[in-house]
Amino acid sequence: MKILAIETSCDDTCIALAEPSAKDFKLMSNLISSQKEIHKKWGGVYPSFARREHQKNLVPLLEQGLRATNMLKLKVKNEKLKITVKNLKLKNILEREKFLYDKTEKFLGKYQKPEIDYIAVTVGPGLDPCLWTGVNFAKALAYWWGVPIIPVNHIEGHLLANWLTPIGESAKRKTQNVKQKTENKIKLPAICLIVSGGHTQIILVKKIGQYKILGETRDDAAGEAFDKIARILGLGYPGGPVIAQQAKQSSMINDKLSIKLPRPMLNTKDYDFSFSGLKTSVLYDYIKRNSKIKKSKEYIRLIAKEAQQAIIDVLIKKTLKAARDYRVKTIMLGGGVAANKELRIQFEKKVQEYSPEANLIVSSGKYCTDNAAMIAMSAYLRIPNKKAINWNKIKAEPNLRIAD
Ligand code: KG4
Ligand code: ZN
Repeated sequence: MKILAIETSCDDTCIALAEPSAKDFKLMSNLISSQKEIHKKWGGVYPSFARREHQKNLVPLLEQGLRATNMLKLKVKNEKLKITVKNLKLKNILEREKFLYDKTEKFLGKYQKPEIDYIAVTVGPGLDPCLWTGVNFAKALAYWWGVPIIPVNHIEGHLLANWLTPIGESAKRKTQNVKQKTENKIKLPAICLIVSGGHTQIILVKKIGQYKILGETRDDAAGEAFDKIARILGLGYPGGPVIAQQAKQSSMINDKLSIKLPRPMLNTKDYDFSFSGLKTSVLYDYIKRNSKIKKSKEYIRLIAKEAQQAIIDVLIKKTLKAARDYRVKTIMLGGGVAANKELRIQFEKKVQEYSPEANLIVSSGKYCTDNAAMIAMSAYLRIPNKKAINWNKIKAEPNLRIAD
């Protein structure tokens, strides 16, 4: 079985090709065209720019993926698509994606249908115009090639990215280099902390496909807090990696400076979060400093470190509380912020203190930030209970939730 996966929910255009079997999940190709450089100028993502970039990138990325996996086969004769009912329908599916239509038309005229059994596409949550571009592209290919679509929830994708973790990656696991088996090796129930640019949720995973949101952020997401704090400090976008980099360079002791930021909702009995006050505290601290301090490396590094630690403290405490309360066997992380090294190290330590029996699973950083491998994995794991759907029934759902 071969799956083509498409992910365009935010500012990364992602295409993956996977071949799952009873033995293992073979990731044949996993491509990302990042728009970070474009959005850097604005300090955040502009949906209409992001959409335009998706329209430009999707076809070249698909071609690249198919070529790398020997699935790109030229037609005997390059067909210029004529005006037929079939072609008009294609035009109709892509009517709001003019740029993408031109590229898609050429691509379909030039190459044969690849050996693909399913097209998996992120339908939500995410930025509405960006989601639609990916969804429309998936619909156009599915229609043209006669392949069914599997709609994927982006958050479930982040969660199930943990199934991409090769056994042996977690510090607690001794066996190295064992390929991830497609049968379920992860012990459930589990708690999964999702920390991305748009979401911060603690999810109880009863089974694959059976979830309960135990808590979530009441305002900004953890990734959003990183991004906003980085903007205040003039560090650029995306904020997470630059804050982490600054924090790492901070020396442990600084006699002249002292910064203490709040840990919002650290001791509340629920599993909710709030990060908007933390960002405001950073802003107040920044405003009150004189310009010499503000511009000093020491200050930026120290406040970055303190802000990162404040976020880590709350994330770990609330997640472990949920894990304890629900007596789960596994704790998982997912989403861009889960790529944060310090968060991973501190989580690993705390989980071992909490219960030596509990397993912490975190997939490698490249599967935590947005990618289409997780969309392919998600589609694969959900095929038994979620039937593939005909292309004309698919739509983007920007506010889709994984559970109630
Ligand atoms: O999951 P993701 O790639 O996209 C969304 O679904 O939102 O997450 C993006 C977020 C951004 O806010 C980014 O600043 C943050 O993840 N992020 C990080 C790191 N890498 C990305 N945050 C902290 N540390 C990192 N190393
Ligand atoms: Zn994401």
